[in-house]
Amino acid sequence: MENSETLTNLARAFAGESQAGLRYQIIAQLCTQQGYDTLANEIKTIAKNEVNHAKTYYDLLTKENGTARNIEICAGYPFEKITIEDGLKFAMTAEHEEAERIYPEFAKIAEKEGYKEIAKKFELTAKVERKHELTFKFLYENFKNGTLFRNEKPTFWVCSQCGHTEALKEAWNICPLCGSSQGFVQLKLN
Ligand SMILES: [Fe+2]
Ligand SMILES: [Fe+2]
Repeated sequence: MENSETLTNLARAFAGESQAGLRYQIIAQLCTQQGYDTLANEIKTIAKNEVNHAKTYYDLLTKENGTARNIEICAGYPFEKITIEDGLKFAMTAEHEEAERIYPEFAKIAEKEGYKEIAKKFELTAKVERKHELTFKFLYENFKNGTLFRNEKPTFWVCSQCGHTEALKEAWNICPLCGSSQGFVQLKLN
């Protein structure tokens, strides 16, 4: 596998997924600092998925190739001061790229080079990233519009801290039972 494009793609996948995992944790931290506790939790779950994708590619690479002291890859990454809104938009766009372009391309190349198992893993990852894209799209749009905790019809909102539940168009600012703020209300992800 030494001179294959697939070996480099496994290293690229590891690097990309590792970064996604950490970048999402940074966004989640920003959410926690600003009181968006349940939003932070959604993002942490996706961050965990990315870390496990990275692990999967690390394991695949060493299984197929053995030990490699150094695999060179060339990549560019942005370093900007971000807000929650920027972070969610960035994540949505990154997931779209992975789902629609990067992993399908990696899978095609792996298939061509005869690495069926690896091609399958790339395909499965693309499917997850597509789901992540949709989650980030929902979070980004609702965060931007101020509708994370508001719906057109009365909705059953649940306090993640004490379980208080009430059907309202907009969730309470302060939970009438435990006093937790709106950022602790469970999100209504589709
Ligand atoms: Fe991933
Ligand atoms: Fe993802």
